Amino acid sequence: MRLRLAPGQEVADLAAATERLRHAWSVHAVHVAEVKPGVVELRLVGFDVLNDVRMPRTSDGGDGLLRVPVALREDATPFVRDYRTVPHQLTLGATLSGKSMYLRHLVAGLAPQRVALVGIDCKRGVELAPFAPRLSALATDPAEAGQLLPALVALMEERYDLIRARQRDDGATSDVWGLPEEERPMPVVVFVDEVAELFLTATRKDEERRDELVTHLVRLAQLGRAAGIYLEVCGQRFGAELGKGATMLRAQLTGRVCHRVNDEASAKMALGDIAPEAVTAACAIPAERPGLAVAADSSGRWTRARTPYLSLTDAATHCAIHTHRTPVLPALARFRPGASTAVETVPAGS
Ligand SMILES: Nc1ncnc2c1ncn2[C@@H]1O[C@H](COP(=O)(O)OP(=O)(O)O)[C@@H](O)[C@H]1O
Ligand SMILES: [Mg+2]
Repeated sequence: MRLRLAPGQEVADLAAATERLRHAWSVHAVHVAEVKPGVVELRLVGFDVLNDVRMPRTSDGGDGLLRVPVALREDATPFVRDYRTVPHQLTLGATLSGKSMYLRHLVAGLAPQRVALVGIDCKRGVELAPFAPRLSALATDPAEAGQLLPALVALMEERYDLIRARQRDDGATSDVWGLPEEERPMPVVVFVDEVAELFLTATRKDEERRDELVTHLVRLAQLGRAAGIYLEVCGQRFGAELGKGATMLRAQLTGRVCHRVNDEASAKMALGDIAPEAVTAACAIPAERPGLAVAADSSGRWTRARTPYLSLTDAATHCAIHTHRTPVLPALARFRPGASTAVETVPAGS
């Protein structure tokens, strides 16, 4: 229901009363949101919608290019991952907390859209390889990723040149979205599952290679948006132990989703720098609710949301159905999953 605030009232007054309203009306929860100045919306939720998640069928503008309704908020509205407003995101959580499920939904949601999907899954591809038919490029170990990331950076630079060329022809634009549609390059979403697998090293020599990988990722995160290249990074922890540049990379990943974590330090890595109050909420996520997460962005707002269940088989089938939409990006052609299995092992560093 919508209410007009009386003169002198503020949204916080109603928010402070939600616990009492909840009891008075015997409902599961009452959520307050400001619709426009002076008007608030009260959402009464009858039961715990996060227990068995069903996404609402009518998505009120939830989908669209580069928008995926990926989870359900506790007030029963969809949580939408929107790459145009939040280009890069970091998803943290302990093992079995639901990170890969979250990625699975994003891949499945983007599969029917006009976008190129790129996977980096250094756990030998166990999570992302099943989506290979819809992936324009896939790296399943750090050596492959070491070749794929520079190729992505080169692709990004190529796109900057294209934008520059257009500017000289009198079309003033500073990103790919300002280009005429027939010239606009295909957006690219890069998924990194288990980022630590990419960065953890054994030897000193590996350390140099890791620093290179981080540098490439930092460049993609800093400059990718204008070139239509978006990062979706997920991992168990994301701290200084990942090496030089890790903190800089994290600062660029402005969207944050924190699943269940094992310690407060991990929740702080995910949310501490942008929504400190959300840290406590993230620490309270119970183990028996995989997929439940606290999502925040650089505006400081945060929300609890849970993904619905989606089996790997269903997601893979869905991707296979949309194989024909897989764009071939010449710059990434040699990383096309089918192609790489044919060549088998490419010697590292070649
Ligand atoms: N939203 C969810 N609803 C029900 N089960 C889930 C949900 N998210 C994850 N799971 C289950 O939890 C387990 C761990 O999920 P996964 O995404 O692989 O975690 P992670 O990648 O963080 O280790 C899987 O068995 C998965 O089926
Ligand atoms: Mg996983």
